[in-house]
Amino acid sequence: MNKETKAPVFAWEDAAPSLKEAFAGKLKIGAAVNTRHLSGDTPECRTIKKQFSVLTLENESKPEPVQPQEGRFVFGPLDRFAAFGEENGIRLRGHTLVWHSQCPAWFFDGADRDLLLKRMRDHIGTVVSRYRGKIAVWDVVNEALKDSGGMRESPWYKIIGEDYIAEAFRAAREADPGARLILNDYNLESSDAKVGTMAAVAEKLLRDGVPLDGIGFQMHLGPDTDLGKLRENVRKITALRSLRPDFQIEVTELDLSSYRWGDLAEDIKWTEERERRFRETYAALFRFYLDLAEEGVLDSVVFWGLSDGVSWLNGFPRRHRNYPLLIGRDLRLKPAFFEVAGIGTGD
Ligand code: XIL
Repeated sequence: MNKETKAPVFAWEDAAPSLKEAFAGKLKIGAAVNTRHLSGDTPECRTIKKQFSVLTLENESKPEPVQPQEGRFVFGPLDRFAAFGEENGIRLRGHTLVWHSQCPAWFFDGADRDLLLKRMRDHIGTVVSRYRGKIAVWDVVNEALKDSGGMRESPWYKIIGEDYIAEAFRAAREADPGARLILNDYNLESSDAKVGTMAAVAEKLLRDGVPLDGIGFQMHLGPDTDLGKLRENVRKITALRSLRPDFQIEVTELDLSSYRWGDLAEDIKWTEERERRFRETYAALFRFYLDLAEEGVLDSVVFWGLSDGVSWLNGFPRRHRNYPLLIGRDLRLKPAFFEVAGIGTGD
């Protein structure tokens, strides 16, 4: 065996390029993290400080953990998150205030429109005002649309009506006039029906003067991602800048699954061919993101997870290992990481 084996580079090491530095002045680069990785001199914490200029909490700021019972707020993790952001000069995203999932059932118990509106406004008002000036961006409403287009018939929609979205954004603006307020969803880049509904919903909100600052594209992508379609669908949303010149998009939950969504049987092996396609897709994505950044349409791209080892896609929706991020297991940098960093620095 005389094949050269290069020594691995780990994300926290001095020898590793830094994504946030590579894209400095162009794009903020982030990750979804958990507070257990925000302290101590650990590889995870060093990686976060070295690599990222924006952070989201993966789970701990969702309604379920934040207000498990009516009126009982749990702020420990969010307080730690806020302090970490302040200490390290990292932009923070709040995720999320109004969602059908990871939302405790008490919100809907015995609620008519007025009661649910009150509970929603109390939650938003209490949480957003506590972190005024500290959490810069909120995913105010998450996943409000159906996969096939049209409004998702969640309890929020059924009990309050379609204007729950507008009311949520108004409450968030009142609680923090300076925060950027985002409507976040998945499959917008791949589904014409869904992006069409999103464009129509956002247009109506903007025309009605609702304080909506942008649309979050989660971008949970897979091996069949159609980049032409993705670019086209992003443009359907950025066209709304004709109504509000500072309207933006954000990439909020980026990952590139090794599996097709519905394919639960396959257990892939990581091959050179997969590696090449993975690298090319990520490279094309970041070239497109830089174009959008230059136009002033996009300023933040957040990966959903710190590394392959802790990605949500390992357990869901199949039990197999997944390889969706630029930072691999053990925080080892993949070839795609170096390629993307090079796109940032223009090398
Ligand atoms: C996921 C987390 O990553 C998992 O740990 C949790 O079990 C379920 O939620 N869209 C979103 C995120 O907006 O909040 C989801 O996060 C992933 C899909």
